[in-house]
Order: sequence, then structure tokens, then C-alpha cells
Amino acid sequence: PRSIWLSRHGESEYNLAGKLGGDADISSRGQEYARLLPTLVKQSAGEGRKLTVWTSTLKRTIQTARFLPFEKLEWKALDELDSGVCDGLTYAQVEERYPEDFAARDEDKYNYRYLGGESYRDVVIRLEPIIMELERSENILIVTHQAILRCIYAYFMNVPQERSPWMEVPLHTLIQLTPKAYSTQETRYPANI
Ligand code: F6P
Repeated sequence: PRSIWLSRHGESEYNLAGKLGGDADISSRGQEYARLLPTLVKQSAGEGRKLTVWTSTLKRTIQTARFLPFEKLEWKALDELDSGVCDGLTYAQVEERYPEDFAARDEDKYNYRYLGGESYRDVVIRLEPIIMELERSENILIVTHQAILRCIYAYFMNVPQERSPWMEVPLHTLIQLTPKAYSTQETRYPANI
């Protein structure tokens, strides 16, 4: 059966600081995940399986994929949801500087578009070519970002996209999805770090 593998990047310096967006390096814990990822992939895909790795163009996904012994491809369409003027801020700073926006996002997270940035709805649209390419590829492992993974995950789990902003996609966990006739089988491989 055809599977797709998904992972968020390892913890970044921005994750540690609670900041949105950016193009930070991964933290030392994130590096630990990068070193463990090839083993998790072997556990999940089997010893000899050759995968192709898709990352975003941001450092944290490229650094996370570094030790995977496979061909790699960078996609701009896999970059994290653009938080516009809020890029680099913490949620507390967003609430303080843009209180109306903060409330509006809470009210309708799927449709809320950051000033100068994107909404989840925008992301779903820019992911269409990725999904099409995924549908006709085999053995793809995607290393990308929280919002992006939520949308890809919702698509394969047949969850309405409006619910993607609340999907649970933890750090340091490899997810294997195997689409079946009427549902998608899911196995999670959490890294022990
Ligand atoms: O905090 C990590 C992060 O990937 C941010 O860069 C991004 O803005 C956020 O998660 C997306 O999650 P949410 O839509 O829940 O704010």
C-alpha cells in the first residue's frame, strides 16, 4: 500500500522563544530530532525503502532533513503560513499590538488573514499543486511546518479543511499515512527526546 510520511521540522530557536514565522535555525533539541529521524523512517518504511524528501525553503526544515539519505526537493509552497506584520512576534505581542486582529483570528481562525500575510484558506489554495503532485507520487516524506502539515493532514484524513487550524500535529513525531479505500490509516512514531 502507498504511504505518505509527514513530519514537522525539529524544534527551532523561534519555537523556544514562542515567536511566529521567521527563518530560525533548529535548537539543539531540534538537532537531536534530525539525527533520530532516519531511524524513525527506517522503523516505519522498512530498511531498504527509498523515499524522496520534500522540504520547504526555510532553514529549519532543511536542517531537519539533513541526515536523511534520500533525494531532496525544496518547495516554496511548503513554507509556513505567512504571518505578515506579526512575523517574529509572540502571541502575547500580537494580542498587545493588534488586539482586534488577535480576537478576529480566534473567532474565525480558518478565514483570518494576517495583515500582509495569509489565512489557512490561502494556504489550502497554495497547497493544491503539492497535493496533486503527492497524489501521483510514491514514497514521499514531507518535512514542513505546523500550519502546512495541518492542512495536508486534514486532506488525507478526510477532515473538512475548516477544521485544519485545530488539528493536532506535534513536534518530533513522524506520521505515516496510508490511504485505504474508505479511510486513511495513521501510525505515529514519536521520537524519544
Ligand atoms: O509556532 C510555530 C508556528 O509554525 C508559527 O510559525 C506559525 O505562525 C504557527 O505555528 C501556526 O500555528 P497557529 O495557526 O496555531 O498559530
